[in-house]
Amino acid sequence: MNENKVHGSVKWQSPSNIAIVKYWGKRPGMKQIPQNPSVSFTLSKCRTETSIDYEASDRFGLHFYFDGKENPEFQTKIAEFLKSQMAVFPFLNEMELRINSHNSFPHSSGIASSASSMSALVLCLLDIECALKGGELDLKKASHLSRLASGSACRSVFPKMALWGATEAFQSSSDDYAVSLENEIHSVFQTYHDSILIVSDAKKAVSSRAGHALMDSNPYAAMRYDQANKHTTALLEVLKAGDLGAFCRIAESEAMQLHALMMCSEPSFILMKPNTLRIINTLYEFRQETDIPVCFTLDAGPNVHILYPDQHAELVERFIMDELEPYCHEGKWIADQVGDGPSRC
Ligand code: PMV
Repeated sequence: MNENKVHGSVKWQSPSNIAIVKYWGKRPGMKQIPQNPSVSFTLSKCRTETSIDYEASDRFGLHFYFDGKENPEFQTKIAEFLKSQMAVFPFLNEMELRINSHNSFPHSSGIASSASSMSALVLCLLDIECALKGGELDLKKASHLSRLASGSACRSVFPKMALWGATEAFQSSSDDYAVSLENEIHSVFQTYHDSILIVSDAKKAVSSRAGHALMDSNPYAAMRYDQANKHTTALLEVLKAGDLGAFCRIAESEAMQLHALMMCSEPSFILMKPNTLRIINTLYEFRQETDIPVCFTLDAGPNVHILYPDQHAELVERFIMDELEPYCHEGKWIADQVGDGPSRC
């Protein structure tokens, strides 16, 4: 960098996302290339705010703070990613960064924050690049780089819904980055709710890196990837048509498959807790009694995401408070909803 005067500050917020068709399994020997396409809702309340203060220096330097405090675990992860991207962002070789990051959701809520934090970080880096070189921030590039930082993070950069992974069912789809489904979905999905029931706030029993690796030797892997492709094709139609019954069937089948895959991996894992099953069974009864198209999905953990259209929000939220809250850890749940994607702060 030729002048020592180069300095500035950028800040972004970026949301988490919840997959309906799940990404579980990477292509061996490739950098975060998924074995199958995945589709997700972009969330609203669960998000990370990240700022970077940057200043020209004679070498690369990083100070990382999470919630105002130094965090060596995150610092290592972020330094590793930044060093891997020196060819993309050569200016980093001569820059001192001070990164401050904060999650809007509780750190120990059992909710994965890598999608929101890594996409927020990448958007900040691209903003610095724009400040130094000019030009507009490119969301496709943001998605591509977020993928390299943490697979599913590539879906967080788009509003409403995103598709990641090449599929014949969607022309511009790619394994390298996600594409927006904002204009491909029925209005009912634009305001969908995701109430996240915290069954346990413990750290994940299996990291997603280890979980993906278990798929390499899973005896049902080929069948799973075939199913995920079929679910993606069907879901894209269902999202367009606004068919809520079919949406519920696909979402729940995907959640169950993800957990079934873990149960038949070697070593095997049970990631649900007794209260996960109690919530699911109580939800089945409520749906049967009311005919409301409310369903669930699960991430790679015990927490339950309850998905439902805005028009039924009042009844479903009353049901959650009356019947499901007792199964939540300290009664905790987050009333989240489909969101508009990242923004500059
Ligand atoms: O992006 P990763 O490596 O944390 O993997 C995410 C895996 C799941 O959350 C279980 C599914 C998904 O598609 O988000």
